[in-house]
Amino acid sequence: MSEISTSLPNYITFEPLEKITSLLQNRQVAVLVDENTKRDCYPILKKSLAKSSLPNPTLIEIPSGETHKTLETCIHIWQELTQNHFDRKGILLNLGGGVIGDMGGFCASTYKRGIDFIQIPTTLLSQVDASVGGKLGIDFNGLKNHIGLFQTPFKVWIHTPFLKTLPSYEVRSGFAEVIKHTLIADKKAWQNLSQINKSNFDTQNWTSIVAHSVALKAKVTEADPTEKGLRKILNFGHTIGHAIESYFIEENKKQSELPTFLHGEAIALGMIAESYYSAFLCKDKFPNQNFISQTDFQDIKEYISSIFENTITDFRKAIEQKNTLQEIVRWAKHDKKNAQNLILTCGLEEIGKAVYDISITEEEILECLMQI
Ligand SMILES: NC(=O)c1ccc[n+]([C@@H]2O[C@H](COP(=O)([O-])OP(=O)(O)OC[C@H]3O[C@@H](n4cnc5c(N)ncnc54)[C@H](O)[C@@H]3O)[C@@H](O)[C@H]2O)c1
Repeated sequence: MSEISTSLPNYITFEPLEKITSLLQNRQVAVLVDENTKRDCYPILKKSLAKSSLPNPTLIEIPSGETHKTLETCIHIWQELTQNHFDRKGILLNLGGGVIGDMGGFCASTYKRGIDFIQIPTTLLSQVDASVGGKLGIDFNGLKNHIGLFQTPFKVWIHTPFLKTLPSYEVRSGFAEVIKHTLIADKKAWQNLSQINKSNFDTQNWTSIVAHSVALKAKVTEADPTEKGLRKILNFGHTIGHAIESYFIEENKKQSELPTFLHGEAIALGMIAESYYSAFLCKDKFPNQNFISQTDFQDIKEYISSIFENTITDFRKAIEQKNTLQEIVRWAKHDKKNAQNLILTCGLEEIGKAVYDISITEEEILECLMQI
């Protein structure tokens, strides 16, 4: 990785986990886990906490998965805090992936008008993405992240050894966000990134990769904390990727033989499609703006395809069904970021530099999908 051009925000740390105890003295401590992080991550945290004379924390367990990122689960968390008499000095440690972090942070920010919380992200996605930018929330009536707020955590404690127990498909899915941060914000790092491939994936120094990616995201979110402008470049790959993700989640309920794609896998597919849009379709459409070359597109496609080979095979097989691509396009029309009946997306001006709020038509989305 190239040098981090910005320092990390002061609330994010990679210090040894046992140092966390200095922030927990003389206050009630609760740890939020799901069944997986209770089994794989809590023993590591507990060992670090045991190095001080702190009393055992209150353990709050919820079931894993996006389907539980709901108000019902929040009620359980608030009830546990209440029954254990947590006062406003209490602190919640959110030990888990993005679901635990988003929901635990939301519950802490609203309990007694807000208690401190520390994010301890344990998936690659939550370390490089959810850890930065202060977005918290839950799903509501089937709408993703519909209820929530922006709130900076007291600390984000990143400990990459947690990734050792994370299933490899989850690590790969999180890696899509690492690729994205590089493509939108760091040309130099893109050249180094290609040294990370399928065969050496498990032996990477994740701390330096995560720290670099976090710094890139922080640079963007600090310039635009509430997503009025620049921050939208973080949606690169998401207009088409999110449509793919949503279509297959819904369709799989009706036809269980169809695949579903993890968020990062869908974004990887979306990044190929939106890179094609930048290189092939935007040049004529927006003549006053620069866009990546066709060679850049080939490089991007080749690299993403090398990491997400199986995802691409599954996608190509699934779209053999009649009308699938047209249905995915329909999902893109529902994207939250659209405005005034236009479908809005991001493009790559060059590798390491993105543009946002560029319009894309349904026909263009269809053409881009065919390039995956
Ligand atoms: N706040 C933000 O800015 C932001 C950004 C991106 C995504 N998100 C949110 O993050 C969520 C997705 O997060 P995710 O991909 O981390 O999924 P997740 O939280 O569902 O975790 C994925 C799975 O991995 C398990 N797990 C977590 N850490 C583990 C470990 N170290 N070892 C073994 N198993 C482990 C979990 O129990 C779960 O089954 C979505 O709800 C999304 O909306 C938020």
